[in-house]
Parts: sequence; C-alpha cells; structure tokens
Amino acid sequence: MTTSARKLFVTTALPYANGNFHIGHIMEYIQADIWVRYQRMQGHAVNFVGADDTHGAPIMIAAEKAGKTPQQFVADIAAGRKQYLDGFHISFDNWHSTDAPENHELARQIYRDLRDRADGGLIEVRTIEQFFDPEKNMFLPDRYIKGECPKCHAKDQYGDNCEVCGTVYAPTDLINPFSALSGAKPELKNSEHFFFKLSDPRCVEFLENWTQDGKLQPEVANKIKEWFTVRTNPDGTTSEGLGDWDISRDAPYFGIEIPDAPGKYFYVWLDAPVGYLASLKNLLEKRGESYDAYMADPAMEQYHFIGKDIVTFHTLFWPAMLHFSGRKTPNNVFVHGFLTVNNGEKMSKSRGTGLDPLKYLSLNMNAEWLRYYLAAKLSARNEDIDFNAEDFMLRVNSDLIGKYVNIASRAAGFLTKRFDGKLTDQFGTTGAALLAEVRGASDAIAQMYETREYSKATREIMLLADKVNAYVDQNKPWDLAKDAANNEALHQVCSVLVNAFATLTRYLAPVLPGLAQAVQGFVGVNMQQWNAAGDVQAIQPYQHLMQRVTPEQLEALFEPPAQAEQAPAATETVAANSHPGGEELAPTITIDDFTKIDLRIALIVNCEPVEGSTKLLRLTLDVGEGRTRNVFSGIASAYKPEDLVGKHTVMVANLAPRKMKFGVSEGMVLAASHGDEKANPGIYVLNPWPGATPGMRVR
Ligand code: 2FM
Ligand code: ZN
Repeated sequence: MTTSARKLFVTTALPYANGNFHIGHIMEYIQADIWVRYQRMQGHAVNFVGADDTHGAPIMIAAEKAGKTPQQFVADIAAGRKQYLDGFHISFDNWHSTDAPENHELARQIYRDLRDRADGGLIEVRTIEQFFDPEKNMFLPDRYIKGECPKCHAKDQYGDNCEVCGTVYAPTDLINPFSALSGAKPELKNSEHFFFKLSDPRCVEFLENWTQDGKLQPEVANKIKEWFTVRTNPDGTTSEGLGDWDISRDAPYFGIEIPDAPGKYFYVWLDAPVGYLASLKNLLEKRGESYDAYMADPAMEQYHFIGKDIVTFHTLFWPAMLHFSGRKTPNNVFVHGFLTVNNGEKMSKSRGTGLDPLKYLSLNMNAEWLRYYLAAKLSARNEDIDFNAEDFMLRVNSDLIGKYVNIASRAAGFLTKRFDGKLTDQFGTTGAALLAEVRGASDAIAQMYETREYSKATREIMLLADKVNAYVDQNKPWDLAKDAANNEALHQVCSVLVNAFATLTRYLAPVLPGLAQAVQGFVGVNMQQWNAAGDVQAIQPYQHLMQRVTPEQLEALFEPPAQAEQAPAATETVAANSHPGGEELAPTITIDDFTKIDLRIALIVNCEPVEGSTKLLRLTLDVGEGRTRNVFSGIASAYKPEDLVGKHTVMVANLAPRKMKFGVSEGMVLAASHGDEKANPGIYVLNPWPGATPGMRVR
C-alpha cells in the first residue's frame, strides 16, 4: 500500500471560543484523528492542526458580560481544551488561535492580495444601511435585533427569521425592532462595507469548476450546484447566481483590522479559515521549518474535516480566497453530518445537550469505546448518525470486547503457563490459512480508512474476528489443554490466535490507539506501522486490556445532572421528583458559569408602584456603590411598596441594563415562584438573614 510518503495538512473546523466542546466537536475530532492516525501508520507525514475561532460579535459581547477582555475570555476557554483532546486521544500536532499574530498577518496579506490583483482587484466598497444601537454605539448583527414577526406577529423574534412561523426576513422588516443588547430602538445608519466580489465571472468560473470536478462528496457537490443558479436573500426573496460576500464589520468588533481601513474589521468568517494556515505556520516555525516552503511544495495535500452546516464557507468563500490571492486551494473538504443522541435533538453548536464529553470521562468510561462506536457508525457520506445507548453497549461489549479483545485472553494464559510465553511459527494448515486470510485483508481495510469508510472497516475487522472465533470453537484450546499429548496442537492454536489478534489490533489501531499501545507491549510487535511484518515471537503475561461498559455507567451518563447528585441522599420514602417547584432543573453549569453571575445584598431604599403597570414595582436599591440603582420587578401582585422599604434582598448586580417601557432597569431582584403560577400563585422575594449588609456578594 505504501508508495512514497505523502505530505498531508489536515484540519478540523475551528470551534468558537465561547463555550466548551460538546459531543459534536468530539465526533469530528475523532473522525479526523482516525484518518490522521491511519495516514501516519502508512508512513505519511501529517500535520494535523486545530485552533480556537476567537473573533466576532457574539464572543465580544459574551466577554463583556463576563467582565473580561475578549482576549482574556478566549484564553480562559482555550485553557479548557486540553482535557478533552487528551481525554479522547485526539492527536493534534498544534492548537492555536485565530487571534494570534500569524493569523492577523496572514488574513491581512490574503486580503491585500485579493484587492491588489494585477488583472483587477476583487474587493469592492459599498455603502449599506444597517441597524445601529444608539446606546451601545454599535451596528447590530442580525441576531442582536429583535422585534415582532411581520408575518405571524410573534413577539421577541430575531432579526433574520421567525422561530414561530419560520419566515425569513430582513431585520428592517421587524415590527417595533429593539436592540437585544440594550433594549434601545435601533436607528438605520449608513456604513461603508467591504465586499469580496464572488459574482465576478472569474470567481464564478473558478468555483463552478472547483466544486464540480468530482473531488467533493456527490451529495455535497449536488447541493452546491444550486448556489450557482439561485440564492436566497436575507429578506427571503431569491436572486440569480453567486452574490458578493460582505467581509467587513464596523468597530467595536473583536477581530482583525482591515488594512488601510481604520475602524473596519474582517467579518469573523473571513479570518476563521485563515486560522488553519496560522496554526500550521505556528507549528512549522516552532519546529524551525519554513511555512512558505511547505506551502509551495506542489506535493503537499490539504484536507479540511467539517460539519454540514459550514459547507458554503469551505467550498465557496475559502477556495476563492485562496485561489485569487495566489495560494494553494484545499485538495478536498470532507463533510460529515450531525450527531444526535438517543434519537434526540441535533447536537447543534449552541445546544450541546445530551452526552456531555467530560461527564463521559469523569464516569471512567473508556474514550476508546466511544471512538470505536463512532467509527462503527461513520461513513464517507454526509449523513447524520445517532448515538444510541443500547446500541453502544452492544457494539462495545459484544463486538469489540466479545469478538476481538477476548481472542487474546483465550490464548494468552496457555502460552504463558505452558510455553513460557513463547510462540511457535508452525501454524498448521487451517491456522496458516486463517492467518493468511486475516493478513490478506490489509489492503482492502487500508482502502476503507483512506476513503473514510470506517463503518465498513470495523465491519470487515469484526467479520475477521468472527472467523478467528470460529477457529477457536473448532480447535477448543481448553479441551486440548486437558491432555499433554496435545501440547503441540495447543501451542499452534494459541500462536495462531495471538498472531491473528496482533494483526486485528493493527487494523484497529487508528481507532483504538491506546489499546494498540497496550497490545504492543503484550505481543512485542510494532503497532504503529500499517505494514509491519513479522510473527509474534513471545508474549508478556496477559493483563486485562479493556473493561466492559455497564448499564449503570450509561444510566449515569444520561441521568439529568441534578438527579445524579440527589440520588445518594434520597431516602426510601421520598421519590425523586424531576420537576421540583413545578419545573425541570436547568442543565448543569460549572462553578465558573455560576461565578459569572454577581449576586449582591441590596437594601430596598424606596419602592413605589409603576403608573400604567399592574405587575411592576419600581425599586430603588442600595448595593453599597455610593449610588442607588433603579430596578423594575414584577412583584406588584405579592407586595405592597411599604412592605418592602427598608428590607434587604438579593439582586443580580451585573445584569446588562435593560431599557423597559417605563425606564431603564439596572439589575434584577431574586424571588421564588412555582413553575405553574396559575395553579400555585405566590411570589416570594429573597430576604437574607440579619447581619448581611448592602454590597456583600452572595456565593
Ligand atoms: O461553525 C463554527 O463553529 C466555526 N467556528 C467554524 C470555523 S471553521 C474555520 F473556518 F475556522
Ligand atoms: Zn412569525
């Protein structure tokens, strides 16, 4: 299989640096890691890199809310990455950041090269009208504008589409639009934006060819075809052909400043994929190698693993940016579908619920079970796969352990006890035939890995394991062991089994690197090279290689977090209530999440009714800041103003001020109520024990 060593540059999509990894990220990393490990086993030189995608308005706003600079905010997220990557045996060569100097330089240079092309630049400046938040002093991205849906009149809908009726519209179509950041009424303002002229005939011709020349997955290429004929505009209407791409955003924006355009920044999606190159450059330079020479090598192959939601960016914008800036384009983009859990919801970027990767590891669940399970499900097609707990247990316990791992334990004891751990190279006719068959599958299985048909590869390997187990059942080593006259036959059978096991282990090594390492110690042959030749000579005493997954582990994995904590404390008489207070507990947060909320003791200095509202009371609160705060609270049904004046309570002191109909509310007072307010009316404002004074933090 091995010809000359290939030079491979492989990436996975760069995750936004505003949250931890969820199982969808881990699936993609495992898919790419299996491919990378397979390529390394073939002797190819792989640079496998990732990075945090750090820029953009959502991260800037999240950082502000957390009271951190964006740089500090993304650095804190980056610090949490290692435990996941190590935990799931992901072998990145480098992990970097799109805010690193390499990325600033590369993105700006690519932009200049696009702008200054000798045959006519591909950047155009146009004035566009956009909503502007007069309080925050910034242009508002669509998702930070809310209002009433123009079609179904649902309130509180985002600026791009209605979650209730599904209508797609422009933010300017919203009725009574308001800024989701400040509550202010946004104003329409002109701004100069920079566009990448994708509609230029040069781009269209190049992209039609690049996307339709047969390299992409057929289902992906077919979908892309539509974009050259028709596209959907922000207001839901359609236009012909590729549209130009707006690549700029106005300050304030956490991003890379556009050369010669003060106050203008690259839209995050312009510099995000450049982060692939930046991470590679950083890696090569750390090693003292030349990035330019690496990229200039025509033999270098560049591959991106991505999810189906970001195909446009990677098959239109990114190749066009690279090609028209005079750079090499990717050899291919490998698109996978989404992962659902127990037939549940899609593991979207924002709603990473269902299977928490860190919880998986903390339950002492073996990372390689998951790697194996996902491999058994993944194909080269862009299709969704489902993590199903029962199926997981079956595949791990019955296939992986029952069929494959047990081969070793069935033979090892006899070899160690009876033959001092030494193997014979006499395999007998059926044994030799079996080994020839197992070893002969090497090229076919290699091809399955190469083409990312992992489910085919694992199926093939398990079929071979079935044959090995049939050989065990025919030859019954445990019967042979009863009579010393059968020693030679026993030696043969066990030697065949260990050799077959070693070969199967090598086939599984891209998926199960940790197990392969342990087996290498056990059988003493190389598990890092796909075509490593040679029989096993001797074995070390067998040590247990892999535990079975237990139903308890799976139960705990999917148990709602609060119940998991309550379980030990529950008494026989009190049944666990999954809806305490009339509603389900919210998903688990970390202590870091909790400390983002700054709760303080507040003295209610004054309280009065709000004219025109039957629900609200206006509270004047002293939080020990040397000034008072104005807070509206929906507690008028439960308290008379005079009940509250002079009392202490607890407030959220770092909530962004909200502009309400009656004025700005500068925080929130904490109160308890039942989930079903109609059936269980009552609102109870929190009141600390005596001694607490204004400004004290509640933690
Ligand atoms: O969709 C996302 O999560 C993006 N952060 C992916 C970026 S991939 C690459 F372009 F950086
Ligand atoms: Zn609607």
